[in-house]
Amino acid sequence: MADRRTVPDIRANKVRNGAVPLVMVTAYDAPSARVATEADVDLILVGDSVAMVVLGYDDTLQVTVDDIAYHMAAVNRASPTAVVVCDLPWMSFHLSPIDTVRNAATLIRAGATAVKLEGGEKRTPMVEAIVAAEIPVMGHLGLTPQSTKAMGGFKIQGRTAEDVHTLVEDARRLESAGCFGLVVEGVPDIAGRLITEAVDIPIIGIGAGPDTDGQVLVYHDVIGLENRFKPRFVRRYGAAFEEQTDAIRSYAKDVRTGAFPAEAETYLAKEDLTEALGLYGSRPNGV
Ligand code: KIV
Repeated sequence: MADRRTVPDIRANKVRNGAVPLVMVTAYDAPSARVATEADVDLILVGDSVAMVVLGYDDTLQVTVDDIAYHMAAVNRASPTAVVVCDLPWMSFHLSPIDTVRNAATLIRAGATAVKLEGGEKRTPMVEAIVAAEIPVMGHLGLTPQSTKAMGGFKIQGRTAEDVHTLVEDARRLESAGCFGLVVEGVPDIAGRLITEAVDIPIIGIGAGPDTDGQVLVYHDVIGLENRFKPRFVRRYGAAFEEQTDAIRSYAKDVRTGAFPAEAETYLAKEDLTEALGLYGSRPNGV
């Protein structure tokens, strides 16, 4: 089994200092966390994207701290060796630092190693409060899905020089507030590069180009279980939707034709039981 990663390991992982890029993937349940662990990823993200990829909502705003804690606990039961980062969902870090720390603690008690929150400068008091409670925290800049209504949809950010400067400044502020790393989502490659160059903590990109300190993707996109839309930044490494449909279709066919279950999948009654029941071995339907 691979060594357990720690937050200080991740914090030190800058590619410009010779480190290998970090691998982060989402997981929302024990089987996906087992797969991610077997594949030896560095970080697992119990993302609020669970709302869209697992629970069928149109955005991430629908999930609560209790929902995320439920999925976090399932991931934790798989004994992951990665650092497990858990998303603070919408409205769990917007009201006050006290409220934010309580919500972060709920996720830590469910098994998270660290929490992640979306937003720039205005989130720094919440980041400082979480860090003061000894909870490691990641930031998330650029296309922040919890701002979908304010942004007018899932829109690429950092389109102007001024916007890129703001993103760089926000990254510096989040680093100073105590974040051990940042996710940067949905920005042009030059913005990904400049943010990565501006800070000493690792930048993990998703649709932020190749010049970051790591990459994160949604599990269902990587394995090809989400087959309805494919954002430009996604590369599918599997065809799980088609493979799983084939498997269930074959199972349905075998049930309908009587090919399943066969003897190998049946608890055969001992002869004395058959006799005691007044039966003589053949199956009632004669198959
Ligand atoms: O919830 C999530 O999956 C995320 C990733 C898009 C980084 O925050």
